[in-house]
Amino acid sequence: MQVVKYAFQQHGDDRGMLVALEEYYDIPFEIKRIYYMYDTKEEVHRGFHAHKNLEQILICIHGSCKVRLDNGTEQKIVLLEKPYEGLYIPNDMWREMYDFSPDAVLMVLASDYYREEDYIRNYDEFLNFIREKSNDR
Ligand code: TYD
Repeated sequence: MQVVKYAFQQHGDDRGMLVALEEYYDIPFEIKRIYYMYDTKEEVHRGFHAHKNLEQILICIHGSCKVRLDNGTEQKIVLLEKPYEGLYIPNDMWREMYDFSPDAVLMVLASDYYREEDYIRNYDEFLNFIREKSNDR
């Protein structure tokens, strides 16, 4: 399972650092939505879903957190701890976010608006969905 983690270009000078993200140049999709999580309580795990038709890039712009990715056959754990790192999550990928540091701000760039119909929130349903999809191929 290939994990795509971008290292965005940093513009640093003696004042500090700056990262600029441009649609299609730095982010491989049209950005239709941005949301972010903060003040996440200790021990909380979030996510527990996959999307049928949604691409996302997760950036922990402050603090750190971990993301467990699961494509139905393999799992990978990714640590996000730099404000210039972006984890790309394609369709059909189960994700869980956890181990948030108390100061963590996890920002998500998404390729579509919020649509509850696009979510698969049950893990067995997720496995069935990807199995059926690979049988159709
Ligand atoms: P939720 O789906 O529980 O977050 P996660 O599964 O990623 O931990 O979302 C929490 C609430 O926020 C829920 O009531 C739906 C709402 N929400 C929106 O209104 N728009 C959004 O883009 C997102 C991601 C969530």
